Amino acid sequence: MGSARIVVIGTGYVGLTTGACLAGLGHQVTCVDVDRVKVARLAAGQVDILEPGLEELVSRGLSSRRLNFVVGSREAVADAQAVFLCVPTPMGAGGAADLRAVEAVIEEISGTVPAGCAVITKSTVPVGTAQRIRALLGRGDVPVVANPEFLREGTAVSDFLNPDRIVVGSEDELAARRVADLYADLAAPSVVTDAASAELVKYAANCFLAMKLSYVNAIAELCERLGADIESVTDGMGYDRRIGRAFLKPGPGWGGSCLPKDTHALVQVAESVGFDFSLLSSAIQENIAQRDRIVAKIAGSVGGTLAGTRIGVLGLAFKAGTNDLRDSPALSVTAMLAAHGAEVTAYDPAVDGDLPGMRIMDDPYQVAKGADGIVVLTEWDEFRRLDWTYFADLMHGDAVVDTRNLLDPQAILNAGLCWLGLGRPRRHARATA
Ligand code: UDX
Repeated sequence: MGSARIVVIGTGYVGLTTGACLAGLGHQVTCVDVDRVKVARLAAGQVDILEPGLEELVSRGLSSRRLNFVVGSREAVADAQAVFLCVPTPMGAGGAADLRAVEAVIEEISGTVPAGCAVITKSTVPVGTAQRIRALLGRGDVPVVANPEFLREGTAVSDFLNPDRIVVGSEDELAARRVADLYADLAAPSVVTDAASAELVKYAANCFLAMKLSYVNAIAELCERLGADIESVTDGMGYDRRIGRAFLKPGPGWGGSCLPKDTHALVQVAESVGFDFSLLSSAIQENIAQRDRIVAKIAGSVGGTLAGTRIGVLGLAFKAGTNDLRDSPALSVTAMLAAHGAEVTAYDPAVDGDLPGMRIMDDPYQVAKGADGIVVLTEWDEFRRLDWTYFADLMHGDAVVDTRNLLDPQAILNAGLCWLGLGRPRRHARATA
């Protein structure tokens, strides 16, 4: 398509990344949002999302005039060749995706979108949405294309610019190919298919990743009970090319804005067509059980009961590299700690301000003061460089529970503390001293 006139509706992390990256690829992009304040900030180059490379891309787009921000999609789409829908599709009642934002946009643009312009779903939408949009649009001359994103928070720009694949699906194959052409410079393989298959690829991929993680967390639990070491087990598994090394790290559970939402939605979709997707439901249950096991592990590390203890938490974001707290396992764990009577203080390099039930500190050493135990819940690199001797001086107890297997156990033992990882043999300072 060469350089195309593109409108991106919704400037959340998917929309803004899509808009800024497409402008970076040489397209003429208009990003639309209903939030006037946000649009004004973005038009001035102010990006509020913590996403490496995004602010630079936005500012380059603005100065090259290939990227602009406006309020109101009705006028914006009038001369577009492609319109990307990147509005939120939150989890609605019963786990199904709530499509009200998508429907509102369709209603707004249905009269002004020009003939031949592709309307593209980018946000994760339930299977059948493209078809529903076609019906809502009521425009036989406007093709609808599903083009799911596979962007991870914290690496969204690099994921966009180095994709494993481009998935496009439509009943209008030519339109799907034109949308794939927008990414031609990225030299990634394209999967061109029907709309329902493209929509399902996204769920099938994300839910597979979630199941892989629940599986690894369960294997880590088995390692503890059987005296094996998860690091060696996953190392041995990862050499198998059919399995691969990615997504084999145990943790406090998977969270974030996508995996929890998408797993619930797919269970719901399956149910709606009379299929009991018990494999996936079990992965969700396992993810809840993982948080309970972490809390039990922390309790065990401070003498069996949490009431009256002081626990210092390192990391609140659902993973490193983001300030996103949505469905963060760290928040469930801290809430359970508090509910069991522990006094919780927390530090996260990307989170400030107070949260219910805990005090947020602005320095990691502050959470050590008088703590009976420390628990690492997010794998921030800077935690690897903490001074554990100083921690030991400040702490009241000696327990360090490392739910990301992030720290160097030896450094902790050398400081006279006890290290407890996930699926790994417990290591106690006194035993090695
Ligand atoms: C995910 C998908 O990866 C992405 O393709 C999709 O478009 C959006 O959802 P994201 O939500 O940013 O991306 O998080 P991701 O990096 O996939 O991590 C998900 C969760 O799994 C996090 O809680 C993370 O801590 C956890 N995780 C990941 C592990 O516990 N171990 C691992 O080995 C990998």
